[in-house]
Amino acid sequence: MIIAMDGPAGAGKSTVARRAAKALGMHYVDTGAMYRAIAYGIVKSGTSEADAEAVVEQMDIDVRYEQDEQHVYVAGEDVMPFIRTQEISDAASRYSAKPYVRAKLLETQRQIAKTYEVIMDGRDIGTVVLPDADLKIFITANPAERARRRALELEMRTGEKQNVQAIEAEIRERDYRDSHREIAPLKQADDAVLLDTTNLSIEEVVQEVCRLAEEKKHA
Ligand code: DC
Repeated sequence: MIIAMDGPAGAGKSTVARRAAKALGMHYVDTGAMYRAIAYGIVKSGTSEADAEAVVEQMDIDVRYEQDEQHVYVAGEDVMPFIRTQEISDAASRYSAKPYVRAKLLETQRQIAKTYEVIMDGRDIGTVVLPDADLKIFITANPAERARRRALELEMRTGEKQNVQAIEAEIRERDYRDSHREIAPLKQADDAVLLDTTNLSIEEVVQEVCRLAEEKKHA
């Protein structure tokens, strides 16, 4: 069983996909982390945007599953602790629009879906990476709600009060960039189920994903 889950930043995709994968005995595959890892590799190398293509071509990227958790290694280093900063989020958003970056990850992502039963989350999984997925789900929520959730998460992590308006502005900007880029823009696949989580708890969304998966399995 292959489940493709797409949607904008902050819709709760990764939390939902991780929990649903656990409940369904599947692998959770976070493709955003792969884009972040490439962005981290570029930033760390100090390369300018103009010279990044050669760096990406040479980059040694390895995705491994250890105790059911995905780890992305760049040149042998587990980069997971370093890829959630604002700097890397911005770089990932910019570099994920480059064809050479998407090409670098496409085969890796397809190979993982051949090896395991997966819930793969991203922006172009149902449309480009796994167009034949058994189930496609497009998860979204309105920008104000996504900003509220992100602020809560950051407050829990840092203990510092967050500016929700600023976060919402940044979310809108990233949505625009991800949806209007020329290559693999964020959009709902024609055959995807739309799941608007604005008024749902995480638990309710996880249950709905599991219900859709079970329904597909027995169809
Ligand atoms: O989901 P995320 O915020 O970790 O993703 C990081 C960036 O990578 C984000 O700007 C969108 C981009 N991305 C993408 O273009 N395609 C994917 N399949 C996953 C993420």
